[in-house]
Amino acid sequence: MQGCTACGLSRHRKNVVIYRGARRPRLLFLGEAPGAEEDESGLPFVGKAGHLLDRAIVELGLPDDGYGITNVVMCHPPGNEFDPRAAAACRPWLELKLTWLAPEVIVTLGGSALHALEPRAGRPLAEAGHPRLWRGRPLYPMLHPAATFRRRAFRDQWERDLERLRSMVDLWMPGFRSCSSFPARGLTPVGSPSSSVAFK
Ligand code: URA
Repeated sequence: MQGCTACGLSRHRKNVVIYRGARRPRLLFLGEAPGAEEDESGLPFVGKAGHLLDRAIVELGLPDDGYGITNVVMCHPPGNEFDPRAAAACRPWLELKLTWLAPEVIVTLGGSALHALEPRAGRPLAEAGHPRLWRGRPLYPMLHPAATFRRRAFRDQWERDLERLRSMVDLWMPGFRSCSSFPARGLTPVGSPSSSVAFK
């Protein structure tokens, strides 16, 4: 993946942003494409949207060795313009990641991620919070965390969908949340070095 030149984004990128999280994630968050900070660091969701996502993960009480984060596209698109051609070029990598990681549950963040998996799905706002089955596993669509910075209504929806996701996770994966690192990352040592990886 690191050497990929399948689309024009490879000419501008600093890093191929592959994945961060558990080696065997039971739940996978799927975003759109790396932003400038992700391009710099080589890790997905480390900017402002990533902070909101990390907070949501803490609020959900997900164990550090239980989730992962990746994107439909692995290289930063200039101007943050999502390019369907880049998504098509990156698709084999996405399929490979889904096969290797084999998550039990997928949470899509935003319309591009949802439509990458479910091309016939409706608008992200209408679909958010309504789970469906994708290749035999639950797929839970959420708004993109960056959307919550744009409108208060999106922020409220994000909070509602998060609340619902918590109940859904308990239903789909009983006991999964109970071994969480709650109350907060940084206050307690979390995760084990061998259980979590960052592919840069
Ligand atoms: N937005 C995304 O969709 N992915 C990232 O990694 C960062 C911001």
